[in-house]
Amino acid sequence: MSIAERDCVLHSWTVQADWNAPTVVGGQGARLRLADGREILDCSSLAECSNLGHQHPRLVEAIRAQAEKLCFVTSAWGAEVRADLADALLQKSGFIGGRVFFTLGGADANENAVKIARLAAGKPRGRIIARDRSYHGATHLAMALSGDSRTREQVDPEAFGIEHVPPPYAYRCPFGSRSDEECGEWAAAAVGARIDAGGAETMAAVIMEPNAGTNGIVAPDTFWPELRHITSQRSVCLIADEVMSGFGRCGEWFAWQRFGEAGRPDMMTLAKGLTGAALPLGAVVLSAAMAARVEHRMLNAGLTYCGHPMSCAAGLAALGAYEEEGLIERSRTLGRSLFASLGALQSRHPVIGDVRGGHGLFAVLELVADRETRAMHQPWPSTPPQLKALVAEAMAQGVSFATRGNLILLAPPLVIGEEELTDAIVLLDRLLTKFFP
Ligand SMILES: Cc1ncc(COP(=O)(O)O)c(C=O)c1O
Repeated sequence: MSIAERDCVLHSWTVQADWNAPTVVGGQGARLRLADGREILDCSSLAECSNLGHQHPRLVEAIRAQAEKLCFVTSAWGAEVRADLADALLQKSGFIGGRVFFTLGGADANENAVKIARLAAGKPRGRIIARDRSYHGATHLAMALSGDSRTREQVDPEAFGIEHVPPPYAYRCPFGSRSDEECGEWAAAAVGARIDAGGAETMAAVIMEPNAGTNGIVAPDTFWPELRHITSQRSVCLIADEVMSGFGRCGEWFAWQRFGEAGRPDMMTLAKGLTGAALPLGAVVLSAAMAARVEHRMLNAGLTYCGHPMSCAAGLAALGAYEEEGLIERSRTLGRSLFASLGALQSRHPVIGDVRGGHGLFAVLELVADRETRAMHQPWPSTPPQLKALVAEAMAQGVSFATRGNLILLAPPLVIGEEELTDAIVLLDRLLTKFFP
């Protein structure tokens, strides 16, 4: 641990006085090299973003080559590499005739998606519906979109014209449904009811994560296609926040693609895996119809570094790596075996109440004090001390796991070796026995 960093940097999502995170000096594949000489197997892709692992040679080379050619041009002017990346994203998503607005990351992608939806609808203050137990970023509007109990007191969604509905959280279904399928359908129906309550004509958009999110919900398969159906029926724009779920994380280029055309949103937001996290970049991808609606209207949006050529070069190289290394399919295959291994863990450890995921390399273990009643050790979003101790011990033994409240989130780089993944599960098994006997 670097003493100097502890004293001079304000770290994100941290109580400063408690900061004791490692300092990273290098990496390769799914492994990170620490300043103290140790190696860590990364089972969370840092912030669920290093989908291509660390220091991917193709990304490093693309960034170097772009730096020699052209470092920067303002986002209002043209840059060849930006156009190439936009074209590649439109091809991959099948949004032919659409457009891409580039941002710095996920939060501002979501902010701009809201702005663009309101511009397209001709309603500068049009209503936005989002959901509880979601995460859309940490800028103020993105915090207002998020259904995140950690920051609820810091922002007033109403002031931003944002309303929340209950989530498709099948394990603790807010609608009291009897099955996962029913919970997904009822959660989608609740969006329809909320749209109707204020009138569809007052709406600008619905924004939601199509499958998995960092707040630990994995929506049942019935949810997204039904939500698409309900929003289409009412001519309401549907925005898919694919910041975390995109680029193979859920076994597809974009999670909604698992449902084919029945899942196609009007816009989607991207970041994280877009550059494999090698450089900051986000994007809003618009369908042709949405693009046509804003074509002749002034777009008051954009930050100085939006669509930075260096980041776009990294994005283009990342797309090439996903494609040529077959990483989307790999995520799907490894995700299935990860899910099966976690199911086996659940049968041995009563503390595991629920296992969610399985579409790609993203899985959630929800820990409970009592499997029968589903009672938690501590109210959400506190992390039980035993889980904190488990994660600290895992780190000491060379594996990093992410937690959120009573959840363990597994989201390793898509390049993780099969043996590495097995080793991580074996360690988790041992530590669950030790800390939750
Ligand atoms: C679903 C989702 N949306 C948006 C964001 C915010 O992205 P960023 O941190 O790049 O602003 C995140 C980050 O975790 C996310 O998971």
